[in-house]
Amino acid sequence: MAVTRTFSIIKPDATRRNLTGAVTKMLEDAGLRVVASKRIHMTREQAEGFYGVHRERPFFGELVDFMMSEPVVVQVLEGEDAVTRNRDIMGATNPENAEPGTIRKELALSIGENTVHGSDSEENAAIEIAFFFNDDEIVG
Ligand code: CMP
Repeated sequence: MAVTRTFSIIKPDATRRNLTGAVTKMLEDAGLRVVASKRIHMTREQAEGFYGVHRERPFFGELVDFMMSEPVVVQVLEGEDAVTRNRDIMGATNPENAEPGTIRKELALSIGENTVHGSDSEENAAIEIAFFFNDDEIVG
């Protein structure tokens, strides 16, 4: 299995509850390595741009407001089959449907306040990484 990269966001519900370390430990314990990380307060432009694919969804406004509400931690994660590995440890989008032991089952509050975002494909991972990081900020 090839070593690849994926993009992760530790969302405002987690930074607010001081869970940055707890989430990162679960990612690391799942075999992922943090090769870039920064804490930012998303602008409206960043939140709307990043989630542009969801613009027509009824929850878009709520999603953007939430992502701007408190700081987030954006990360690049590296590991074998990183996209799938990260999605496995994150669990289902709705924490009610997530498997025990996953980040969302153990830590998320709701489908909106669901603690983490992770890329859904290698193609989107590359796009999402480039949205927040320059190449020289990623140190593998
Ligand atoms: P994420 O993986 O960051 O990608 C899109 C986000 O939209 C998703 O996680 C959820 O947090 C959010 N989302 C999806 N469905 C709903 C919903 N019904 N209500 C509010 N937020 C939602």
